[in-house]
Amino acid sequence: MDELNKENAAAKPSAVLEVKHLSIDYPIAIGTVQAVRDVSFTLADGEVLGIVGESGCGKSTMGLAIMNLLRDPGRIVGGEILYHGKDVVKMSQAELRAMRGRDIAMVFQNPLTSLNPLMKIQDHFIETIKYHKPEMKRPEALKLTGDLLEDLGIDRKRMKEYPHQMSGGMRQRIMIALGLIMKPDVIICDEPTTSLDVIVEAGFVDLLNRLRKTFDLSIILITHNLGLVAEIADRIVVMYGGKVMEDSPSSLIFHKPMHPYAIGLIECVPNIDLDQEKLTTMEGAPPDLVTPPVGCRFAARCPKVFNLCRQEEPPLREFRIGPDRGADGSAPSATVRRCACWLFPEEK
Ligand SMILES: Nc1ncnc2c1ncn2[C@@H]1O[C@H](COP(=O)(O)OP(=O)(O)OP(=O)(O)O)[C@@H](O)[C@H]1O
Ligand code: SF4
Ligand SMILES: [Mg+2]
Repeated sequence: MDELNKENAAAKPSAVLEVKHLSIDYPIAIGTVQAVRDVSFTLADGEVLGIVGESGCGKSTMGLAIMNLLRDPGRIVGGEILYHGKDVVKMSQAELRAMRGRDIAMVFQNPLTSLNPLMKIQDHFIETIKYHKPEMKRPEALKLTGDLLEDLGIDRKRMKEYPHQMSGGMRQRIMIALGLIMKPDVIICDEPTTSLDVIVEAGFVDLLNRLRKTFDLSIILITHNLGLVAEIADRIVVMYGGKVMEDSPSSLIFHKPMHPYAIGLIECVPNIDLDQEKLTTMEGAPPDLVTPPVGCRFAARCPKVFNLCRQEEPPLREFRIGPDRGADGSAPSATVRRCACWLFPEEK
């Protein structure tokens, strides 16, 4: 590698995960739900990436596809999911089994339904460890479990208890600990705080921040809660109707959103500082994904809609901003944002 390339490689964080032009369908009796369409994004090493959008926009479908765990009748109809350059879509069953939990782990929406009520907490861990490391003896596995639980602020003695004996917040931590036990380098959390109250939710942000440093994790945080991702994510991908509308660093999404849908979502985040009296809600509903509209998928709800929006779909364009923009317009280390809206037809 020459000196210049070495410098560039050092400056650019390497991608752990690259999703490229991913499309996912659910064929059902009345047609095909086009749940995810041409979605691309990158998760850099050590990055926290938030994926946000209203219910039904394809967030969980995306998360499950990354683990190659789509539920019936879901199927990937196009694109690639590259984990350290290797396509998850093309992995054999054996490769997938080895990857899940060990390389990429997923924490699901509801911890109570994900934990077996008849199994002690410790046995959930033993089962996972046995699956990936059958050679590990039980005392060693129990020690590993106890150490990890303590790292997450849970007394190790409690691993002998059953899920129903734990509070909601603790069950959440246990689910995360289960995800972390094989030391994966990516963890996908799907609506991790839906079942938690606000105080426990605040603790979750601290926990995730601590874990990302301690465990050297890259995290995908899937949520409809933009306030939550704002506190922890480096980048945010905003999805609507199965497509990416905007992908920007989180501070920019909050202070200078580009896409009208991102603007609408931000207006719906309660803002204590502004002493907002009532929470704004966005009028209308997301499009039907069996017969998605022609043109921009957000057109029916967009306050800035104009003729072209209903005729042609805006492409997801890349915009580079930053202090070190070159004279020719190129800026290798500039911040990259992407936005799919005709209001931003080309880079300014
Ligand atoms: N098993 C399934 N069969 C048929 N359609 C499905 C299935 N699972 C999801 N869908 C559809 O795919 C689309 C995307 O759903 P998905 O669950 O990925 O959305 P989401 O963004 O995670 O929503 P939520 O915020 O409610 O969890 C929706 O239109 C949904 O109805
Ligand atoms: S393309 Fe048109 S309808 Fe779509 S978000 Fe932009 S302005 Fe609104
Ligand atoms: Mg979901």
